[in-house]
Amino acid sequence: MGKVAFIGAGPGAADLITLRGARLLAQADVVLFDALTDPALRELAPDARWVHVGKRGFCDSTGQAAINALIVRHAREVHLVVRLKGGDPSVFGRLEEELEAVAEAGLHAEVVPGVTAALAAAAGTQRPLTRRGSGRSVSLTTAMTRTGELHASRSADTEVFYMAGKQLGALSRRLRDSGWPADTPASVVSRAGWPDQLHSEHTIAELARASLLHAGRPTVVVVGAGARAVVLERPASQVATSGIVSEDIAPDQGLGQTLRP
Ligand SMILES: C[S@@+](CC[C@H](N)C(=O)[O-])C[C@H]1O[C@@H](n2cnc3c(N)ncnc32)[C@H](O)[C@@H]1O
Repeated sequence: MGKVAFIGAGPGAADLITLRGARLLAQADVVLFDALTDPALRELAPDARWVHVGKRGFCDSTGQAAINALIVRHAREVHLVVRLKGGDPSVFGRLEEELEAVAEAGLHAEVVPGVTAALAAAAGTQRPLTRRGSGRSVSLTTAMTRTGELHASRSADTEVFYMAGKQLGALSRRLRDSGWPADTPASVVSRAGWPDQLHSEHTIAELARASLLHAGRPTVVVVGAGARAVVLERPASQVATSGIVSEDIAPDQGLGQTLRP
């Protein structure tokens, strides 16, 4: 009987996995991995058998049952199965179902945390999620409910929305209906933690403008206290004359580009 290690791969670049995760991954016989993880992670376990179980074909409940069955089948055959997940396994990662399947099969499990997208976005844009005085609580929310309906609330000083990238117009309306003032800052970050991270700044009233910029990329939306810039912006003369793109984060300080639509 083998063991199953659920390891958070972090939001992108392979060097954002934890040391503990990398060491355990190196011992894997089989790695079941998601679509979002960096292919460079394969170098950490070159002799393992890598099995892709990300999105295509596996995203509905039938797909989840198939993943659960794969985990259990492999764990009965080898010493160590790694279930490698994007970000942190405990955040919108279907960890509950997979832990249940492993426990029901009488197998041993271990969970290694990872850097979730909200934290990568905060780091990559240098916008702390908590702020002294104004930002004392943070919520991680998926805007999408099981029925596909969009949901938004005002439950924390900083709200980070996952899986809302395709419905920013609806999110804008729902946020205002939930009591957020129209001029509340919103920071939209796609591919946080990757070299091609994109970041755009909005008010929640204008959130829909971010749709095109971030289309087709994994995106989080930070609303409220944690969306505000900390550093004073550069004088206007240093912003690109198109008025659309400015690299307000120097390459040695942060990642990607900040876009102002
Ligand atoms: C199924 S959830 C998985 C979240 C993951 N477990 C985590 O902790 O980040 C997928 C959603 O996470 C967000 N996401 C994942 N990686 C991201 C990244 N690098 N940049 C921005 N958002 C990301 C997006 O909202 C995406 O739709």
